[in-house]
Amino acid sequence: SISTAICNSAEIAFIGGSGLYQMQDLTNKRSIKVETPYGDPSDNIVLGELDGVTVAFLTRHGQGHRLSPSEVPYRANIYALKTLGVRYVISVSAVGSLQEMLKPLDMVVPDQMIDMTKQRDSTFFSNGAVAHVSMADPLCSKVADILIQAYEKANIADGQCHSKATYICIEGPQFSTRAESHWYRQIGADIIGMTNMPEAKLAREASIAYATLALVTDFDSWHPTEEAVSADYAIQNLLKNADNAQQVIKQAIALLASEQPKSIAHTALAQALVTPVTAMD
Ligand code: ADE
Repeated sequence: SISTAICNSAEIAFIGGSGLYQMQDLTNKRSIKVETPYGDPSDNIVLGELDGVTVAFLTRHGQGHRLSPSEVPYRANIYALKTLGVRYVISVSAVGSLQEMLKPLDMVVPDQMIDMTKQRDSTFFSNGAVAHVSMADPLCSKVADILIQAYEKANIADGQCHSKATYICIEGPQFSTRAESHWYRQIGADIIGMTNMPEAKLAREASIAYATLALVTDFDSWHPTEEAVSADYAIQNLLKNADNAQQVIKQAIALLASEQPKSIAHTALAQALVTPVTAMD
């Protein structure tokens, strides 16, 4: 008799932020509890198939949004995905806009990041194993290009998609002061969130290609006329945006599965400075 083999590995994973707690149209869903040396991930990882492609889905804030941005177990999450064989991670995350042209309901695929977080475990390398990976280009440009193509294919009715933006990650959970918001604009940030660092650093250390699909929910607090961000305001826009994001995700899966791009992230460790340095020649 013929049986369908269902394997518990996936090359493509999505980490869903606020408003993205499941992935539409997955078949053969199985929920997997992965144990890691860094404790439990935010939630079980859901594996499933979309048009024949196996994908993994993880909710960043856990069931019922229990975990604050500071409490998300970033190391356990990336470690768990790595254990499942993941080579590409797409982070779908709500952000505030620091630029007039990036409007609520738009999507942004950033290419740079600034890490302003303060109290998060942000490396797998310590206690005798030290590695310095390059973070010059923190987001995988190939996966980013696929997200932009996926947006075009998805024919989204609201808003626009922007690329080449800088994501600044704050500790939160409070939103920024007006003075901070103006300062972040001055130092070149375009969008602001609370979660993609150290996630992107850890993905790089794990040699996983990482890119972000950012959903703009608000104008943070710098804007002279728009209402300053509040949770209510951000959530309303997020709910509208999350549906659109699902369409982009579906297109991105098909493109990633067919192109399987080689990423600089995949050789990150081979190119890292790793100590102790043994050969002094
Ligand atoms: N997530 C959504 N909007 C945000 C904002 N204005 N600041 C930080 N994180 C956010």
